[in-house]
Amino acid sequence: MDSELWLKVDQYLVSQLVPVDQALDRALAASDAAGLPKINVAPNQGMLLTLLAKMCGASRILEIGTLGGYSTIWLARSLPSNGALLTLELDPHHAEVARENLQRAGFESLVEIRVGPANESLRRLIDEGSEPFDFIFIDANKEGYPEYLELSLLLSRVGTVIVADNVVRGGEVANDQSTDPLVLGVRSFFDKAVGDNRLEGTAVQTVGSKGYDGFALFVVTGR
Ligand code: SAH
Ligand code: DHB
Ligand code: MG
Repeated sequence: MDSELWLKVDQYLVSQLVPVDQALDRALAASDAAGLPKINVAPNQGMLLTLLAKMCGASRILEIGTLGGYSTIWLARSLPSNGALLTLELDPHHAEVARENLQRAGFESLVEIRVGPANESLRRLIDEGSEPFDFIFIDANKEGYPEYLELSLLLSRVGTVIVADNVVRGGEVANDQSTDPLVLGVRSFFDKAVGDNRLEGTAVQTVGSKGYDGFALFVVTGR
């Protein structure tokens, strides 16, 4: 493991490819000042989310796990002016910090934050007969991933893209002896995804400023 090198390369890539951005920098500074954990996506990962959402022409985005709204701002950037982003957050303090960050970034009209356990918010959306989302980013508590995947499928259409963060966890995902609930959550998320013929997808390992982790990427191919 050479995390210093990963960090150096991430710093290089970010300085080359990710434009300096006041709104995003302020969002991180405000989140930090409010005592939120620094577990947001890295800048180049945030930009990857924007690009993926643009590539699938998303106009309705669902995010599970808001924190201070850093990834939310990145995702909101991909949206057309008539787009919408719904982001789900358990912690009212996180949601409040995110609300301020999104407002400062100019996205208050495009983004709605729903506070509460994501599984309950998702079930409510399904009951409300929500229109399907075009792009779904799963990034909340890892134990919840299997259920979030299942509920996300009920809020999808053929072509919906589902991306999940933190699916490698320093390699622990490959440890079939693990008793860590986070690892077990991710492993059963994969079990569910693989056994579901409505989904086609893969996962890639990543290294960088967030250490050694990875993303899972799926497209909904059936309903
Ligand atoms: N997407 C953010 C990071 C999210 S961190 C970014 O990259 O900027 C994970 C978030 O999920 C935390 O804010 C945490 O409070 C929230 N969370 C944890 N359990 C949850 C639950 N059951 N329902 C909804 N959100 C939850
Ligand atoms: C951590 C990182 C994340 O991206 C996340 O969503 C949750 C936790 C972490 O490094 O602990
Ligand atoms: Mg994450």
